Amino acid sequence: MITTSGLTKVYRSRGREITALDGVDLHVREGEVCGVIGQSGAGKSSLIRCVNLLERPTAGTVTVAGQDLTALAGRGPRAGKELRQARSRIGMVFQHFNLLSTRTVQDNVELPLEILGKSGKERSRKALELLDLVGLADRAGAYPAQLSGGQKQRVGIARALAGDPKVLLSDEATSALDPETTRSILQLLRDLNRQLGLTVLLITHEMDVVKSVCDSAALMENGRIVESGTVGELLATPGSELASALFPVGGEATGEDRTVIDVTFHGEAATQPVISQLSRTYNIDISILGAAIDTVGGLQVGRMRIELPGRYEDNVVPVGFLREQGLQIDVVGAPQLVKEGAK
Ligand SMILES: Nc1ncnc2c1ncn2[C@@H]1O[C@H](COP(=O)(O)OP(=O)(O)O)[C@@H](O)[C@H]1O
Ligand SMILES: [Mg+2]
Repeated sequence: MITTSGLTKVYRSRGREITALDGVDLHVREGEVCGVIGQSGAGKSSLIRCVNLLERPTAGTVTVAGQDLTALAGRGPRAGKELRQARSRIGMVFQHFNLLSTRTVQDNVELPLEILGKSGKERSRKALELLDLVGLADRAGAYPAQLSGGQKQRVGIARALAGDPKVLLSDEATSALDPETTRSILQLLRDLNRQLGLTVLLITHEMDVVKSVCDSAALMENGRIVESGTVGELLATPGSELASALFPVGGEATGEDRTVIDVTFHGEAATQPVISQLSRTYNIDISILGAAIDTVGGLQVGRMRIELPGRYEDNVVPVGFLREQGLQIDVVGAPQLVKEGAK
């Protein structure tokens, strides 16, 4: 639904060049909620602004719903009209809501409909329908200053939906909100994704956000995407930084000459019998250093950190046994061996 390829953005300010995007290849499937994570300055906002052409990319292409927006942006007035139409099908939600304070809630939602040239009657019908959808039907006549932060963001979301978009872009939509309001706004985005089949690309710096609503995630560093995939794929990738951030298990080795292993299992797979089998078969004592079961991206995932006596070389056979049981095994603190294990 959204594909960027080789997307590059170089800002020129005061004689300096800043490469905010350095060849970003991102693919978001139709109907998916994709979360982009990364530290401040990583290029997340530049990415989202380039996806809807608020910012002109320096190089690369952006395709949304099969339409190459970058090609439209480069051509004459007729293409300009097509680009405006294409952009009206992309909703955008901002961190600071960007509501007009002198307009009522309803008039704020009607604004993009005015720009689209809809009649007064149609605008008002659509705005009330959208306010109902975001749970604010009774505040249509209020002014932004009379609303809480969460309510303002609901108005921002209703406004973003005015052009019946297929795609919703959200840049840190919840970072100005308290945790409880954050949860309710995320739930709303998730509901809209399901009800309307909206594809959502959201930017955040909070892992919890990804955990509760995203189907897939991408990690940005220095203008590049360094990891991406569905939550399931990430959890199944040995050594994935995103996976361990999504689903951390604690526990330190109890001494030298120990092998520490993270065992990841999905759905119903029970590790308990496997661990005791392992212990019996190889006659070794296994310590459990940490364990957690959680729902990540709608999937049940369990992770257990265990410790075997002896170094990794001494444990090749038991580790092989665990892999044969279909469990995902990450050896902790042995980078070269982790790589070997990933083959
Ligand atoms: N309009 C701009 N002009 C110049 N530099 C910019 C502009 N917008 C962003 N940058 C720079 O580009 C880099 C990426 O910024 P941004 O996309 O806002 O990252 P993020 O949203 O991940 O914090 C930063 O170094 C930032 O200072
Ligand atoms: Mg930003």
